[in-house]
Amino acid sequence: MSQTSASITPIPYQPGHEQIGIDEAEAIYSLQNVFAGMANQVAAAEGHAHRAVHAKGHALLRGALTIADGLPEAYAQGLFATPGAYDVLLRWSSPPAEQLPDSVSTPRAVALKILKVPGERLDPGKGGQSQDFLMVNGPAFARPGPQGFLADVKLLAATTNRSPAGKTVISTVMRTAEAALEALGGESGKLKGMGGEPQRHPLGETYFTQTPFLYGRYMAKLSLAAVSPALHALDGAGLPNDDDAQRAAIGAHFAGQGGEWELRVQLCVDTEKMPIEDASVEWPQDLSPFVAVARLSVPAQAGWDPATSPRLEDETAFDPWNCLDAHRPLGAVNRARKEVMAVSRQLRSEFNRCPIREPG
Ligand code: HEM
Repeated sequence: MSQTSASITPIPYQPGHEQIGIDEAEAIYSLQNVFAGMANQVAAAEGHAHRAVHAKGHALLRGALTIADGLPEAYAQGLFATPGAYDVLLRWSSPPAEQLPDSVSTPRAVALKILKVPGERLDPGKGGQSQDFLMVNGPAFARPGPQGFLADVKLLAATTNRSPAGKTVISTVMRTAEAALEALGGESGKLKGMGGEPQRHPLGETYFTQTPFLYGRYMAKLSLAAVSPALHALDGAGLPNDDDAQRAAIGAHFAGQGGEWELRVQLCVDTEKMPIEDASVEWPQDLSPFVAVARLSVPAQAGWDPATSPRLEDETAFDPWNCLDAHRPLGAVNRARKEVMAVSRQLRSEFNRCPIREPG
């Protein structure tokens, strides 16, 4: 039977819900080395360091997040406990380590930085007052944890900085395979990650954190779903095979109009079927639906300004561990990215001699 927000009884968080794997530390150390290798290779070739992954930014936008009034207790947690409005910085990106042409089609991603949020911080040493959430256009991560992800990333590293023309061919093959699989009712995270992502408009997609977070007393995954009709109209819309098709498409939309999304929360009600440590499991929505807790409103503006956006790319970092105590990332994939993302930030900030700072 499908549940509604009123009938949801979330499981309160207990430390026992998290279990560190025996070979986890070793896998994280290897991931750090592989990611640093990719980032260094790209930096040496281009004379400029980018993010070790999600290197290509398509848009940097400003918006406002309004927390819903009158949420039930289970959903009125952490940042969402009190109605209010916050400025937000958004960055759309693609996962590879390089500035590839968009014809190499990989998953779509968006990162949110909710600015000047009140409340106790997980790591006051980080400075700033933001709550970051990072999302990709699929409900689950490709692998349960860092051990499996390491094998995928080694493959990605092996193709880093090879000819983009070669990658376009791989991408076309992968996309055809993915389209065939989708026609049969399935989809493969791995095919998509390797360039088999359907060539769709990033503003028509629904985005997910894939990994769980503390949600005040409880545990949850989050999602960003379009609500304005003009964004709904982009659901499934294709893109031309141009080098910067995503940047152009987002820019064209926001040149003339804004957009609205709902930030939605899926509470954990069953730790067997909604595991904390295995990020590859999609949490069943019939057990616990995604419920809107806030509305994101992004006004018309330039999506990408060649004069200022590259600098902002270098100065800014989005990090799920840059957060309130009440929204601490949970599980193995989150523990791994904490260490690996720190390496990437340090590397690019040192190489570019550009300190990373929280936007005002
Ligand atoms: C073990 C798993 C993961 C590792 C090792 C990893 C690693 C990284 C690294 C190194 C960066 C660049 C950081 C920087 O220089 O600022 C990054 C960025 C990013 N990651 Fe991950 N990641 C992982 C899982 C995920 C998951 C589960 C999601 C979301 C569903 C995600 C979404 C993103 C996004 C959206 C960005 C770009 C952030 C921005 O716009 O600056 N990652 N990741």
